[in-house]
Amino acid sequence: MTIDVVSTQPIEGQKPGTSGLRKKTRTFMEPNYLENFIQSIFNAIGGVEGKSFVVGGDGRYFNAEAIQTILKMAAANGAKKAIVGQNGLLSTPSASHLIRLNKTDGGLILSASHNPGGIDEDFGLKFNIQNGGPAPESVTDAMIEQTRTLQSYAILRAPDVALGQIGSQSLGDMSIEIVDPVADYLVLMQKLFDFDKIRALFASGFTMRFDAMHAVTGPYAKAILEGALGAAEGTVVNGVPKEDFGGGHPDPNPVWAKPLMDLMMSDASPDFGAASDGDGDRNMIVARGLYVTPSDSLAVLAANAHLAPGYTSGLKGIARSMPTSAASDRVAAKLGIEAYETPTGWKFFGNLLDAGMATICGEESAGTGSDHVREKDGLWAILLWLNILAERNMSAADILADHWQTFGRDYYSRHDYEAVPADAAGQLMNDLRAKLADLPDQNFAGQTVKRADEFSYHDPVDHSVSHNQGLRIFFESDARAVFRLSGTGTEGATLRLYLEQYAPRGTDHGRDTQQALQSVRDAAREISGLTERLGRDAPDVMT
Ligand code: G1P
Ligand code: ZN
Repeated sequence: MTIDVVSTQPIEGQKPGTSGLRKKTRTFMEPNYLENFIQSIFNAIGGVEGKSFVVGGDGRYFNAEAIQTILKMAAANGAKKAIVGQNGLLSTPSASHLIRLNKTDGGLILSASHNPGGIDEDFGLKFNIQNGGPAPESVTDAMIEQTRTLQSYAILRAPDVALGQIGSQSLGDMSIEIVDPVADYLVLMQKLFDFDKIRALFASGFTMRFDAMHAVTGPYAKAILEGALGAAEGTVVNGVPKEDFGGGHPDPNPVWAKPLMDLMMSDASPDFGAASDGDGDRNMIVARGLYVTPSDSLAVLAANAHLAPGYTSGLKGIARSMPTSAASDRVAAKLGIEAYETPTGWKFFGNLLDAGMATICGEESAGTGSDHVREKDGLWAILLWLNILAERNMSAADILADHWQTFGRDYYSRHDYEAVPADAAGQLMNDLRAKLADLPDQNFAGQTVKRADEFSYHDPVDHSVSHNQGLRIFFESDARAVFRLSGTGTEGATLRLYLEQYAPRGTDHGRDTQQALQSVRDAAREISGLTERLGRDAPDVMT
């Protein structure tokens, strides 16, 4: 087999965002596009000679082809071993677990997460480091540097690897191990949760619907929920991964997982509903008749985690991304542990987890996880909920009501304005930034501004500083509005407006969320001039 060294030229815009490089699939399919980025990753980590990697993805269109290219390039660059999920499938959390379990030098994960898949939709690739977590900014910056100067890449001229065939193969001098994507992950979950208790819950007639959204968690959920835990057949729906996710957005929120929402709000509702996203790191939790916001879910999980075997000794700390509601901070305060506030993106949790400062982390965007891996983990969150339900013997809705009675309720919603002109969105942010200092004590739509700032993060572990992480406006009424531009979109800009209003203990916790947030929303719109600037009366998506 020969190694081809192909000369190439730098390609504009190969800049990883919140979670790796995300582009239109057709862009990734352009000549040298994928190859340039892979070689840049390899160069940025000091070459791959003698190294081993985990490779897998969410099964979207172009997944298998891209994996063939990665493997041939890894072999040509001298890598020693690749551990690959069968048929190229690995959920992001299970890829993270395999990196840690096998102590590899990292992993290449192919996914655009919750973005739609298909030749005219989105594709993505990210590199995770030895701890199993997304590469930190120092590493992604080095990748960007490489993409700007790259002159050639190396690839092995060889037949395709048989991705369907479990076991060992070789590709040039590199060995390839094709593994069952679920097996090791299941073992990990069995260590963390009381499978006997959860099995008994299902045996007692407890019912559940899990919507895999035609994405990667189908096989995992079938093996774990219907297999190991004995949930009724049919508990998992849309469980066969499809290249285009059945034409939908594999994004577990009330908008994109509407069939699940409708079922849970109907008379035919099972006891518990859940969904996961394209690559299996996000989760949605729905109680009978009640959507559980990711911020509340994080808080409930943190408050009850000690009920699961993996967390009986308590939590070291709770970390949340800045736009996530303060609900989990209240739990941390009660538990007497540290609450950390990080920028958006899972990579910022890595240091806290590695240093043993935080045990549970979460983002308002439906990501929750713990120190068991270095990614958020959809099924983990669902299994922790099930473990808690089995222990507390209450409905999910009652657990939530009880939580609010103890801590008060943080009404919360995110409003997304998608594919807006990038210059208008940028201008809005710039103008808002410029007036932050003048906002305190001013009144808008019945809300008085208490303070306003732009969020910067000082990492307490490596002391790195990340600036420009979102504009925050806090109000006297214990409300908050946050403005941020998405770092994962592939078209124009997406402006995210995060709204939150605290209702203390003993006040009304049964209000409609959007109504409870109306005054902070109006204030945020008035302050930013959002409606006129973006020419939009309403957001595209409210979660
Ligand atoms: C979004 C979410 C963020 C999450 C990321 C990757 O990023 O907001 O919490 O970590 O996807 O799943 P954004 O598009 O806001 O930059
Ligand atoms: Zn995801």
